[in-house]
Amino acid sequence: MRRVLITGGGTGIGAAAAQRLASAGAAVTICGRTRSTLEKVRAEVPTAHAIESVVLDVADEAAVANLFRSREFDAVVCAAGIIKTANAFDLSPADFRRVLDVNLMGTYLVCREAMQQLRARGVPGDIVTISSLAGIRGMQVRFPGSFSYVASKHAVAGLSEALAIDGRPFGIRVNCISPGRVDTEIARQFGGIPEIKPAQIAALIESLLDRERMGGLNGSNIEVYSHD
Ligand SMILES: NC(=O)c1ccc[n+]([C@@H]2O[C@H](COP(=O)([O-])OP(=O)(O)OC[C@H]3O[C@@H](n4cnc5c(N)ncnc54)[C@H](OP(=O)(O)O)[C@@H]3O)[C@@H](O)[C@H]2O)c1
Repeated sequence: MRRVLITGGGTGIGAAAAQRLASAGAAVTICGRTRSTLEKVRAEVPTAHAIESVVLDVADEAAVANLFRSREFDAVVCAAGIIKTANAFDLSPADFRRVLDVNLMGTYLVCREAMQQLRARGVPGDIVTISSLAGIRGMQVRFPGSFSYVASKHAVAGLSEALAIDGRPFGIRVNCISPGRVDTEIARQFGGIPEIKPAQIAALIESLLDRERMGGLNGSNIEVYSHD
C-alpha cells in the first residue's frame, strides 16, 4: 500500500487530497499545527485504513527529521502554507521571514527528508509541491498586499524544478501545481467565493502522484487558472 504524507492536511487543498488519496486506498498521514482540524479530517473520511495525523510545524527542522526517522513514505504532498497581508512598506522582517520559513523552508525541509529517505531505501518516489499563480504569473493583484507570499511562492516554483533535477537519477519525481484562487480560507479572506474547489486540485494531485500514468512527468509546473 502506498504511504503518502500530506503537509497542511488539516484543511483546504491538503484535506481534500487526504480524502481523495485515502479513499483510493493509500495509507495517508496528514500533518499541520492544529490538532483539532487534523482530527476532523480523520473523523470525516470513512476509509478502510484510518488516516494518521501528526501535529507538526513544517518549519521545525528537527521535528520534520524526526517524522521521517519514525515513518517511511512513498509519496509526499507539500500543501502547508501561510499568507501575511502587508505590503513591502509595512511588513516586518520577522513576518517576511516567517512566510519564507513555512512556505519555502517548510517545503524544502520536507522534500529534503523525503528524497534522502527514498534514496537510502533505493526506491522511487513522487512529490507534489504547491506554488501559486501568484508565484509565477505576477498575480499578486489577486492577493493584494501579499508580497511576502508572492516571493515565497516564486521560490517554491524554482525549488521544485531544481529538486526534480537532483531527484531524477534516483527515480524521484517532483512536480509543482500553481493554482489561481481556490475556495479555501487563504483565498476567502480576500472576498468572494472562488470558482475552483479544493477537490479539483486534489484530483490533479492524485494524477501527478500516479506513477503509472504520469511517470514521465517531472519538474513540471501545472498552472490552474481561475477566472474570478
Ligand atoms: N487557496 C488558494 O487560493 C491557493 C492558491 C494558490 C496556492 N495555494 C496554496 O495551497 C496550499 C494549501 O492552502 P489552502 O488553500 O488549502 O489553504 P489552507 O486551508 O489555509 O491550508 C493551509 C494549511 O497549511 C497548514 N500550515 C500552515 N502553516 C503550517 C506549518 N508551519 N506547519 C504545518 N502546517 C502548516 C495549515 O494548518 P495549521 O494552521 O493548523 O498548521 C493549513 O491546514 C498553500 O501552500 C497555499 O499557499 C492556495
